[in-house]
Amino acid sequence: MTRAYRGHLMHIGGNPELADVRDWLVSEPDGVVVVDDTGRITYSGAYADRPGDDAETVDFRPAFLLPGFVDTHIHFPQTYCTDAYGGGRLLDWLARCVFPAEAKLADPAYAQQAARDFCRRRISVGTTTALVFGSAFPHAQDALFSESIRTGLRTISGRGIQTVGPPSAGPLLTDETTAISLAVAEIDRWHGADTGDPATAFVHAAVVPRFALSVTAQTLHALGEVYDSVRDRGVYFHTHLNENVDEVAAVHETYGVRTYLDTYDGRFGGGSTPAGKTLLGPRSVLAHAVHCTADELARMAETATSIAHCPTSQLFLGSGVMPWRSTVRSRVNVSLGTDVSAGDEWLMPRVLNDCFKVHMSEPGDHAVALHPAELLFTATLAGARALDLEARIGNLDVGKEADFVVVDPHHQELLAETLAQIENGDRDRLLFTLLMGMRDDAVVQVYVKGRKLG
Ligand code: GUN
Ligand code: ZN
Repeated sequence: MTRAYRGHLMHIGGNPELADVRDWLVSEPDGVVVVDDTGRITYSGAYADRPGDDAETVDFRPAFLLPGFVDTHIHFPQTYCTDAYGGGRLLDWLARCVFPAEAKLADPAYAQQAARDFCRRRISVGTTTALVFGSAFPHAQDALFSESIRTGLRTISGRGIQTVGPPSAGPLLTDETTAISLAVAEIDRWHGADTGDPATAFVHAAVVPRFALSVTAQTLHALGEVYDSVRDRGVYFHTHLNENVDEVAAVHETYGVRTYLDTYDGRFGGGSTPAGKTLLGPRSVLAHAVHCTADELARMAETATSIAHCPTSQLFLGSGVMPWRSTVRSRVNVSLGTDVSAGDEWLMPRVLNDCFKVHMSEPGDHAVALHPAELLFTATLAGARALDLEARIGNLDVGKEADFVVVDPHHQELLAETLAQIENGDRDRLLFTLLMGMRDDAVVQVYVKGRKLG
């Protein structure tokens, strides 16, 4: 049955580069998205120009319809770990707060509860698609994928692989042979599991070493072989890169590489000599990338690897600021990640709010006031691009699967009144105030492929 959803449409149409997105910002104050019974958008635009009139119309006015948010870096086993006290910066925080918290998912009942809460929380903030850093425990990953399918979310995830680490990481470690066989088993079980075809599926698998310091050169070699054998099936690669200066120094010291990226690029032999297959590519997403060299950025751009930018997390852990101008100038695709739980905001626009502020605060000529279209792009279409899903999701164009979030400013104290002050309904000002100002309460309904969630 065809349905029409009426409201103020705002999205980045087409498939522009970041530099052009302000020209592709669509704002249709009395707009409608028409969705067929397969969940695809058959019309998107002005209500007055809609075709025919046989669709059942759901009138959301005066609410906004935005594309579903795409979170390209979030940790499932850290569902209950936001604002953990006493952690310090990255390596201490991991050892003191995060590894013990993630170890609790060894209990299947706890893992099941975490999966339920994780998916429910995602729906409450309109994160329809996420690249999810997984648990070390296969039963927890089974719970995550099952719950994601049950609730109708789109989830890409892989078991967090750790073969070495400090004492508190003990419960999360396996030997290398086990790590490889668990990764392969997870891919075979869950990649495209809901429809049987990754091209139409809502769930996909990823190869996810925690970071270079959680594995060894031998593990990276074996993961390179595995990834090379499953790349063509559309499997993803996900990890952390260049987040914190102590972490970067430790990677250099441990591997003797010229750059951190080399460890993921098959060049983990001493002096960055080639020693295995690369893990980079169009479905590879590296979180943070705060302290990259120009060569690392160029190599990511060349291989179509994306960066998951996580400014809220970088503030919490004091990791530094990813230099916006030089990063995007390299033409690497930059999407957004909450990085829950180092990031303590689940709602992607809250992360956009930090994104705007940290880049406005970069020193001297590096400061940049991001355009609202750039913000919206980073949280939606750039994420779809990072996940190689741009043909299916990321905006409200005709032909896309209908993932959208209904944002009603009347559900949030003073938001509607603030928007009403904007003269002549100025498009850019409206979008900026909406993205910077909205909180969870304003998210009133969430749809994935035309199905209402929750
Ligand atoms: N680096 C390795 N593991 C983690 C993690 O869990 N969170 C963050 N922010 N960085 C990491
Ligand atoms: Zn992370």
